[in-house]
Amino acid sequence: MPRVRFVQQDGSGRSIEVGRDVSVMLAAVRNGIHGIDGECGGCLDCATCHVYVDEEQASSVPQPSEEELELLSAVSGERKPNSRLGCQLKVPAPLDELVVHVPARQS
Ligand code: FES
Repeated sequence: MPRVRFVQQDGSGRSIEVGRDVSVMLAAVRNGIHGIDGECGGCLDCATCHVYVDEEQASSVPQPSEEELELLSAVSGERKPNSRLGCQLKVPAPLDELVVHVPARQS
């Protein structure tokens, strides 16, 4: 089963098995990953699911939609070229593990 590895600011990480149809945000919330809130439940309304896709994998994930790009302008932490909203992100085939970095803050 594919996995998502969540890397915290201090470098610690946790890898979680997820189905390919489960978003990074849901995987985080269901497993108590610190620093990813997902307050709106994935409705593209809160930007509290902000993550940074590992730079080596950034080209492996689908491009964000216009709606996601718009909401990314409202993230609380630093916005970077590899910023994504976890509720819009899933582990794409053929990746076995997607690595995301948790920002310093969500709100
Ligand atoms: S969970 Fe609210 S925008 Fe992603």
